[in-house]
This record gives sequence, C-alpha cells and structure tokens, in this order.
Amino acid sequence: MAEKAVLTVGDQRYELPVLEGTEGERAIDITRLRDDTGLLTYDPALGNTAVCKSAITFIDGDKGILRYRGIPIEQFASRPNFVEVAWMLIFGRLPRQEELNRFSDLLTCNELLHEGVGYQFQHLPPGAPPMAILSATLSNLACYHPTFLAIEGEESLEEAAARLISKVRTIAAFSYRRALGLPFNYPDPRLRYCANFLHMMFSIPYQQYIVTPEVEDALNLVFILHGDHEQNCSTSTARVVGSAKANLFASCAAAVCALWGPLHGGANVEVMEMLKRIHKGGLSPEDCIREAKDKTNPFRLYGFGHRVYRNYDPRAKILHEACDRVFTQLKRKDPLLDIARKLEELALSDPYFIDRKLYPNVDFYSGILLRAIGIPTDMFTVCFAIGRLPGWIAQWKEQHDDPTSKICRPRQVYTGPNETDYLPMEKR
Ligand code: ACO
Repeated sequence: MAEKAVLTVGDQRYELPVLEGTEGERAIDITRLRDDTGLLTYDPALGNTAVCKSAITFIDGDKGILRYRGIPIEQFASRPNFVEVAWMLIFGRLPRQEELNRFSDLLTCNELLHEGVGYQFQHLPPGAPPMAILSATLSNLACYHPTFLAIEGEESLEEAAARLISKVRTIAAFSYRRALGLPFNYPDPRLRYCANFLHMMFSIPYQQYIVTPEVEDALNLVFILHGDHEQNCSTSTARVVGSAKANLFASCAAAVCALWGPLHGGANVEVMEMLKRIHKGGLSPEDCIREAKDKTNPFRLYGFGHRVYRNYDPRAKILHEACDRVFTQLKRKDPLLDIARKLEELALSDPYFIDRKLYPNVDFYSGILLRAIGIPTDMFTVCFAIGRLPGWIAQWKEQHDDPTSKICRPRQVYTGPNETDYLPMEKR
C-alpha cells in the first residue's frame, strides 16, 4: 500500500500522500493541503520544500554526491567537454557523434552578435558591472530573435539554446573588452568553444592569443562543474519566471541577476577578495577564521558552507585537484592557493565549522583556477553564468514540457495591521 503521512490539527486527522524519488528521497505531497484543510505550510527560503520533480541533477548533500543525468560529476573531469555536457543536460542523454557535431556547428553559426547589440555596448559607461551587462544583453536577445519567444518542439529549443550558449561567451568577452576600452575581438569559427572565448577575451590586434590544451581543459572543467545544481537560487529564479510562460531569454536573464548575489555566484569574487586581503597582510588566516565565527561580524568565510552539502562539495574536491594539476603543468605558483589550503585546514579542524558541517563549496577553489587561466576577478561570476546557462535552459525546458506545470505563486503568513481606515493628510 502507498505510504501516507498523517497530519493532526485539533481533532482533525488528514492523510497526505508520500512521494518517493528514484534515489529514495521522500516528500510529503501537500498539493491539496490548503483546499482540504485551509492550512498553509510555513517554510521560509524553501529549505524543506521540493518545488518540482526533476530528472536533471541528483545531489546527496550528506554524502557529497553530484550527478548529471545519473552520471557522477567526477566522470566528466578526465576529458572535459562542456558542449557535450551542455547538450546532455538539456536533452537528457549523452549525444551521439552526429548530434554533438550538429550542436557544435549550431554554436559556431550563432557566435556573432547582431551589430545592434554591439552598438549598445558603446553606450555603456566604462567599468559597468559585467553581470549587469550580461543580464541586460541576454534579455535584449529577445528583440533580435523574436521567433524564439514561443518555443515549440525540440528543434526550436535546440536552436534557441545554441543561440544563448554561443552568444553568452561573446557578450561576456565584449563586456570585458568594453570595461578595458579595448577593441572587440570577433569570434573565430575555427576555434572550439572555450578556446574561442579566451581568444575573444585576450587576443589583441595582430597578436592571436594562443590557448594551451591545459588551459582549454581547465576552462571546460570549470564550466562543466557549474553546469547545473538542481533547484539553487538562480535556477529557481529561472523556473519562477518561466512558470509565468515568460520566454527563455527573459528567464535566463533573471537567473543571471540572482546569480550575481554574494551569497550565490558572487561568492567566488568574495573568496578572491578575502584571499588577496590575507596575502597583502591585512588579515592572517587565523584572524579570518575568527572573524567568520564572530556573530557580531557580518563577515563569512566565503566559499564555505552550502544549503544542501553537509559534506565536502564534490566540485570543490575536483577543482582543488585541478588547481594542483594546472599549476604543475603551467609550472606556476600562486600564493593564494597556499592561503586557501591553510584556511581550509584551519576551518576543517575548528569545532565551529565541524559542528555546523561547513565544508569548501565550488566557489572556494574555482577563482584560483580561473585566475590561473588569466580570467580577472570581476569576470568570475560571469564565467559561472556561462557554465550554468545549460542548466537553466534544461530546467526551463523540463518545466515547459511538463503539462502539469503551473504559475509559481507562493503564499504568505500575513503579519501586518488589521483593517484600518485611510487618514486624510491633515489628520496624520
Ligand atoms: N562562514 C561562517 N559561518 C557560516 C558560514 C560561513 N561561510 N556558512 C554558514 N555559517 C553558519 C551560519 O552563521 C549559521 O550559524 P548559526 O547556526 O550559529 O546561526 C550556520 O552556519 C548555518 O548557516 P546558514 O546561513 O543557516 O546556512 P544556509 O544554508 O542558509 O546558507 C550559504 C548557505 C548561504 C551558502 C552560507 O553557508 C554562506 O553564506 N556561505 C558563504 C557564501 C558562499 O560561499 N556562498 C556560495 C554558496 S555555493 C553557490 O551558491 C554556488
């Protein structure tokens, strides 16, 4: 017999169905709760609420497991191919060779921006935040590709996804060049996804930026590790916007805004600032840990802690190993890596962090690897967005294809004044 949860309120007893996911996680189905009982549930920040059924990403936060479409994240690390993972996240299975070739060709065909978008960059002030530019420009793409305002069918979705995934790196690189007052580098159709991005970022007139295989692999890996992470803040944003049947461009633009926050994707920038501050001698690693534990101080140990992981974030583990590997390959050293290791060692042996199960998250080492690749700090969160875009698209598609999907409309517990009269100005 199907399992039921029993809710007793006063002398009323209600039976609620219990759902079970493919990995055994159980959820009390309260879909009919308000209709049947008049009651709401109160779950601020939705920490206990499954808002959808999803077949894209599985996380076991206690064991530190992350899988895309069932495949452990570690298995993508040895020969990282971001384009292959992006297609798989969106379409639900690994692509066959001809499917991957077709998608790669679509990315190449769509790498240019409409010149109108290019002109918009000219009117931005120097130093404009790249995440603001990214969000605004992704939203603007809807003006240039109106056929994708209503996506019907896999082919149309694939075309729209290719436009977004391809153009996002052109937009990102252009925003960087704009901030520095440098001429834009048009994409080079002979280059693969990551190499093309680095070319647009770093080539200068008459001097092509040469991408080494180590650096190309490292960037593929960074993008893959950010590919999807089930119902995180930015993905939930994309779903909430998409639930109103807003178009894919608008949903992804909104997700970029959510990602910008320092408690989410912006944490990689905060980690770097923290490590630099320690390196400059403004703060010792021990002081940093002390400040993070001090409840009167809003400072947090950035890159530590996670709503879901109560164990080492598997992405942080892969990135830590990748840092060691890439620095050896490039015969380079970075004092910030040593500081990060020291901080990790201190935190993981401190009862404050042990008791709260606070471990390094993806942002702790991603910045150091991006720095080794040559990416400046203010582009870190943009790189996170490039990596996460296939995840947002996959989640938007899953919701769009679900015939039971409804507009997201949470409830509240009202705590304001009871009915009161409007007072004319002279009586206030
Ligand atoms: N440094 C110091 N203390 C921390 C940290 C941290 N990084 N993270 C959590 N804590 C403490 C909290 O103060 C709280 O302590 P208390 O129980 O004494 O009040 C306890 O651990 C639980 O923390 P919450 O904030 O309730 O955890 P929540 O799940 O809401 O937040 C979050 C998760 C936002 C990631 C948090 O750990 C944090 O702020 N970390 C730093 C920012 C960061 O690295 N963000 C990136 C997350 S990964 C991503 O978005 C890609």
